[in-house]
Amino acid sequence: MELPKGLAGVVVDQTKVSSTKNAILTYAGYPIKELKNAPFEEVVFLLWHTRLPNADELKDFRKLLVSQMALPYETVQLMARIAREPQHPMSILRTTVSLLGTTNDVERDDPPRILAKMLTAIAAIIRIRNDKPIKHARKNWGVVENFIYLFSGKRPTAEQVSMFNTVMVLHADHEFNASTFTARVVASTKSDYYSCLTAAVCALKGPLHGGANEQVFKMLETIRETGQDPVQYVERRIASGQKIMGFGHRVYKDGDPRAAILREIARKIAHETGNDPYFVLQERIRDYMFKKTHLHPNVDYYTALIYHCFNLDRQTFTTMFAACRTAGWLAHIIEQQAEGCPIRPSSEYVGQTNRHYLADKEENSID
Ligand SMILES: CC(C)(COP(=O)(O)OP(=O)(O)OC[C@H]1O[C@@H](n2cnc3c(N)ncnc32)[C@H](O)[C@@H]1OP(=O)(O)O)[C@@H](O)C(=O)NCCC(=O)NCCS
Repeated sequence: MELPKGLAGVVVDQTKVSSTKNAILTYAGYPIKELKNAPFEEVVFLLWHTRLPNADELKDFRKLLVSQMALPYETVQLMARIAREPQHPMSILRTTVSLLGTTNDVERDDPPRILAKMLTAIAAIIRIRNDKPIKHARKNWGVVENFIYLFSGKRPTAEQVSMFNTVMVLHADHEFNASTFTARVVASTKSDYYSCLTAAVCALKGPLHGGANEQVFKMLETIRETGQDPVQYVERRIASGQKIMGFGHRVYKDGDPRAAILREIARKIAHETGNDPYFVLQERIRDYMFKKTHLHPNVDYYTALIYHCFNLDRQTFTTMFAACRTAGWLAHIIEQQAEGCPIRPSSEYVGQTNRHYLADKEENSID
């Protein structure tokens, strides 16, 4: 039996949350290109309810989310004990999500409260790592403005909010990617939200999934610090059988639609923050990769530079991905829990057969 590697192309279930059919990413039927400037809160509502909110619903939803952007005192105390170097921020996040599920009133926690707490916790991890005091959300600001403020300590400009809003919207969901599928498997057993999210964070952490954005920037830094020629660097890596992070995609073989939008944001913010050399470097690598492999940049390629321009240290990049993707994870957990059937596929056994314990033990004991 020929099995598709990594379940590529296998339809494992139905969803109304999002689709990548014909390589067009849609959220509840709306193309991502049309949603890129929609407020993040509106997109979250759309993913959770598969319809757009009316003006009053959006206002109330934003108010609810912002009102919950705070953490219990004991959670912050416990986080302060783990959120320090040399632990990787994604490991800290994994433990923190689990912690949130034990130090909160878990029975009361619903998706809006959980999303708000995840964003606040991710910002807190960054503040604690940088030895900076925790900031408190402002009730008259939106979710994105507050989130940037909570991790950076500075009120962002309207333009920064708009750019980051697009980043959050583009990362919010992506049908059955590895971390979402992981969350759905856990949700299918009727486990609680925090257990599903902890599992999703574990899957996102890997460099073949969300961890790629950190590796992209590591590559750019290495090339700049060592003064290597980018083409030679990439050539050498490919020749030795290594992958170039931020390129290729399981679904998008002719280009990731999110990367095209993010490229323009990266170009703009790099220019405004004096980081043009990184963007120029990325363009050289992109051109070479296309010529050599026909692979296109994916969502992680340009976000790496965008996060750098927001003064984030590269180890924290994947926690940003988690912050945005929590919206989608929750949408899929809600959908999966409503189904009531555990995900339990089958496998083809390819190991040895017809072995006999006592006979083999006896044979092994004879010298
Ligand atoms: C995303 C990814 C896992 C998709 O994988 P996939 O659909 O299973 O495709 P494969 O890994 O089988 O790749 C197909 C071929 O392209 C090559 N390839 C894929 N991505 C590559 C990359 N980033 N750099 C170099 N070669 C790559 C593979 O080596 C393989 O070559 P082969 O057929 O000679 O063995 C893969 O492209 C990758 O590892 N990219 C780098 C990590 C990354 O950026 N992840 C973020 C994803 S959003």
